[in-house]
Amino acid sequence: MDAIQIYGGNCLFGQTKIQGSKNAVLPILAATLLIDGVCEIENCPDISDVRHMLRLLESLCCTVTREKQKVKIYTKQLSQCEMPQESVGVMRSSVMLLGALLARTGSVSMQYPGGCVIGSRPIDLHLQGLRRMGVVIEEKEDGFHAETTGLIGATHRLPFVSVGATENLVLAAVLADGETIIENAAREPEIGALCEFLTQAGADIEGAGTGRLRIKGVKRLHPVSYRVPPDRIVAGTYLATCLCSGGEIFLQDAPCLQLQTVIQAAQAMGAGIQESTEGLYIACKERRKALPGLETDSYPGFPTDLQSAFLAAMTLAKGKSTIRETIFENRFRIVPELQKMGADIQLQDNSVIIEGTDRLHGALLQAEELRGGAALVLAGTAAEGVTVVTNRHFIERGYEDICLDLQKLGARCKKVDYPVADT
Ligand code: UD1
Repeated sequence: MDAIQIYGGNCLFGQTKIQGSKNAVLPILAATLLIDGVCEIENCPDISDVRHMLRLLESLCCTVTREKQKVKIYTKQLSQCEMPQESVGVMRSSVMLLGALLARTGSVSMQYPGGCVIGSRPIDLHLQGLRRMGVVIEEKEDGFHAETTGLIGATHRLPFVSVGATENLVLAAVLADGETIIENAAREPEIGALCEFLTQAGADIEGAGTGRLRIKGVKRLHPVSYRVPPDRIVAGTYLATCLCSGGEIFLQDAPCLQLQTVIQAAQAMGAGIQESTEGLYIACKERRKALPGLETDSYPGFPTDLQSAFLAAMTLAKGKSTIRETIFENRFRIVPELQKMGADIQLQDNSVIIEGTDRLHGALLQAEELRGGAALVLAGTAAEGVTVVTNRHFIERGYEDICLDLQKLGARCKKVDYPVADT
C-alpha cells in the first residue's frame, strides 16, 4: 500500500518553493478546449489530478506534450465527447469540461464526476445554469447527456457561492451568443486566473475577482502561453506545518495577498510572519496559542481546503480551539485518526472543539482524501515517534512531492510501500 512514513517531533528549519496551483490549472486546462491551436501552460504542477485531466483531453483527441512544468495542448482535431469513466470518476474537475465541450461540440455524455469524499458535492447549479443557456440535459442514474444547438448568454444568480459552477458558466459563456451575467459568483483567486487566461485568449470578461461577472460572447479565442500562479493551498499547508512543529521556514513564491485570512489565523496562534514579494517567512518559537472561533467560508474567508491542516495544528496549541465547517459536511473525517495520536477533539455536527495537548504520538493512520491526508502528514511531523499515513495517492492528487517539500523544511519523512495485512 502506498504510504508516507514520518519520524516526527523535531522543529522545522528550511525553505521550499511553492508549486503551481491545482485549482487554477484544472479549469484552465479545460479552457484550452475552447481554443483552436497550441496553448502553452507553464508552471503546471505534476500532480495526479492534472495527469487525469490531461488524459481526458487526450481522450477527446487533443495532443498533449509535457516537458518538466511546461505543458502544450493542441486542440485542433477535437471531435468526440464520450469521456473515459476511470478519469471522470476520480476527479470532480472533469465536470469543468462540460461547459467548454458544449461550447465546442454542442453535445456531451458523461458520468457524474467523482472527487474527494468530503461531502455530497452535487452539480445541480452547473446543470441549472447550463439549461438557462440553451442546453437540454437528460439526467440518468449514473450520468447525463447534454445537448445544445448553440449556447446563448443568460443572467444567473447563484443561490450560494460555488467555485465550480462559476467556472463552468464562465467557460460556457465566453463563446456564447450574447451577454452572460453571473451574480453571487465565487471570488476565489483561481477564478481570477481562469478569467485572466481567457482574456489573454481574446475573451471579453469584466469583474474577475468580484461577485459579479459580465461576459460578452466572442466569435473565437486564440492560442496563448500562460504561467500558472502559485498554489495558495499548498503554501497554507506548509504554513500550518510550521504551526504544528514549530521552527522557522520560508515559502518561496507563496501568494501572500491570497493568504490574508490564513496569515491572520496563524498570527492569532502566535506565529511571526513576514510577507514579501519573494514569499512568506514564518517563525513559531513558542508553543502555539489556541484559536477559538475559526470558521471556513468562501474567498476571502478562511478556506475549507486548509481547515484540516489548521485542525492538526490546533491539537498541539495551548488551550481550547474551535472550528466550524460551513462548506463541506465530511471534512472532519480525520478526527478519529488524530485521536489515535492522542489528540483531544470533540465532534459536534459541523463543528469541532479541540483541547490542545502538549504532545502527539506516532501512529498508523489512513488518509481518505486529499487535504485531510496532508493534514495527517503534518500531524506526523509534529508527533513523537514514527507515523505512517497510508493511501499516499490521495495526497498526490494535489501535492507534487509533499515528502521532498517537507524534507526541505527539515522534516524527516519518505514515501514507502506499507505492508498492511487485510483485516
Ligand atoms: C472547489 C475546489 C475545492 C474547494 C471548493 C470550495 C477545485 C478543483 N476545487 O471545489 O478545492 O474546497 O471549491 O472552496 O477548484 N454545491 C452544490 N451544487 C452545485 C455545486 C456545489 O450544492 O452544483 C455545493 C457543494 O456541495 C459545496 C458548496 O456548494 O457544499 C461549494 O462547492 P464548490 O464551491 O462548487 O466546490 P468545488 O468547485 O467542487
